[in-house]
Amino acid sequence: MGDEAIISGSDLEQLEKSLLDSVQNASDLSGLDEVRVSALGKKGQVSRLLKRLGFLAAEDRKSFGQAINGIKQRVGLAIGERKKVLDQEALDDRLATESADVTLPVRSGPLLDGRVHPVSQVMDEIFEIFADIGFSVAEGPDIETDYYNFTALNIPPEHPARQEHDTFYFNERDDGSRLVLRTHTSPVQIRTMLEKKPPVRIIAPGRVYRCDSDQTHTPMFHQVEGLVIDTGTHLGHLKWVLEEFCKAFFEVDEVKMRFRASHFPFTEPSMEVDVGYAKEGDKIRIGEGDDWLEILGCGMVHPNVLRNVNYDPSTVQGFAFGMGIDRLAMLKYGMPDLRAFFTADLRWLKHYGFMPLDVPTLAGGLSA
Ligand code: DAH
Repeated sequence: MGDEAIISGSDLEQLEKSLLDSVQNASDLSGLDEVRVSALGKKGQVSRLLKRLGFLAAEDRKSFGQAINGIKQRVGLAIGERKKVLDQEALDDRLATESADVTLPVRSGPLLDGRVHPVSQVMDEIFEIFADIGFSVAEGPDIETDYYNFTALNIPPEHPARQEHDTFYFNERDDGSRLVLRTHTSPVQIRTMLEKKPPVRIIAPGRVYRCDSDQTHTPMFHQVEGLVIDTGTHLGHLKWVLEEFCKAFFEVDEVKMRFRASHFPFTEPSMEVDVGYAKEGDKIRIGEGDDWLEILGCGMVHPNVLRNVNYDPSTVQGFAFGMGIDRLAMLKYGMPDLRAFFTADLRWLKHYGFMPLDVPTLAGGLSA
């Protein structure tokens, strides 16, 4: 039927039949789509017919309009039906020809090959726990002044604690002062308090350095410091925070803890904290039992330290604690030799490392 011909009923019947035939004859999805475009597309046969309605006498327009729309609808339905059949055929075809050999090894890649180092894992676990009770994370430099590492923390030059720290000193500067590799994360307490007014509630993780090496000591290791300063902060808060931390970290409901009197120049009173553990074969179970493991030092911040950062010890006070991250990792994940942490042996990392997508959360499980 030519475009310009006057529309007649038999033309329409013929058109419908030829379109439905083409739909039926379409042998694949792309062929069917070509039929759809040539029939119902903007410039397709049916659309062109509809455009020509305007040339018809008014009395014919309505009946032809309805007839053409009928064709449009029926052809549309036929295309839909044919598409279902062809879709199914295409799927059957793929199922028959494609196959997957499930016995082949999994294709490797960074997400499967890479491992998160246990120290990073334990740090993430610690962040997660303290973030949940309202602590933010503070940081300081690895290279410290003698003042921040010692003096401001109430460790004056002649204090014996300086010897205990096996400090790595840099060469003397022109003014006679010496920088140090920080021996603990406690200087971050000073830096934080100098920058911020109370209330303070931070943890400060990072690398620390001491000239020492054996099965449980390496010259570089990791600590996390905690500091809380406010008007009413007391020892009860310290005990609660540490208890909550231990329960969450070791993923147990109860932890036996022992607070032992101790001495640190920057706290008064000072305590060391042990957790109870039981040996079962060559495994240890944290939280119960009659043996004790020391995991951290803590205390109420010494008034001299508060004065050194221009805080008024008669209006604010608080507590601090410091613990070894590597030691916590060894305890929790049963790694016997600290030196292996830093030899970058891929076999060790594959064994003790964590999958990169297993991010520790309190809700999902820290070590999942
Ligand atoms: N800085 C101490 C150390 O490395 C650990 C420590 C003890 C930190 C008591 C503290 C604390 O904040 O209150 O050995």
